[in-house]
Amino acid sequence: MYSEKVMDHFMNPRNVGEIEDADGVGQVGNAKCGDIMKMYLKVEDGVIVDAKFKTFGCGAAVATSSMATELVRGKTIEEALNITNKAVAEALDGLPPVKMHCSNLAEEAIREAINDYKKKNGLLEQEDACNSCGRRCDDIHHHLEEDDDE
Ligand code: FES
Repeated sequence: MYSEKVMDHFMNPRNVGEIEDADGVGQVGNAKCGDIMKMYLKVEDGVIVDAKFKTFGCGAAVATSSMATELVRGKTIEEALNITNKAVAEALDGLPPVKMHCSNLAEEAIREAINDYKKKNGLLEQEDACNSCGRRCDDIHHHLEEDDDE
């Protein structure tokens, strides 16, 4: 069911842990299964020089977190923002269709961590504002909750 690479990154995950003085931290949860991924980034001159993660989740979530930290290392923040969940899954030689949703966590965690870095450094652009309401705010998902209230 799982590729050798998935099994390898699940059994021997790379870059597990925290970065104490991280420049950006992103935590996301998967609404479908309740799994949680936290990603820490160290950024120097716009380049991600270190990435670590902690994931409370299934094997596919652990493997995709591990691969995501490998993929973002050495990339500029712009390049890292272009990493999709599909790219993470492909780098693992694929995931079974029922586990593709697990790779969304990796893409979202990268985005959240970079967003946090941008926020801390005054780099948030208008385009980073919430898509729904156009406001710039700390929680890019706030509109979901607002929608719930309606
Ligand atoms: Fe939750 Fe995979 S089942 S992330």
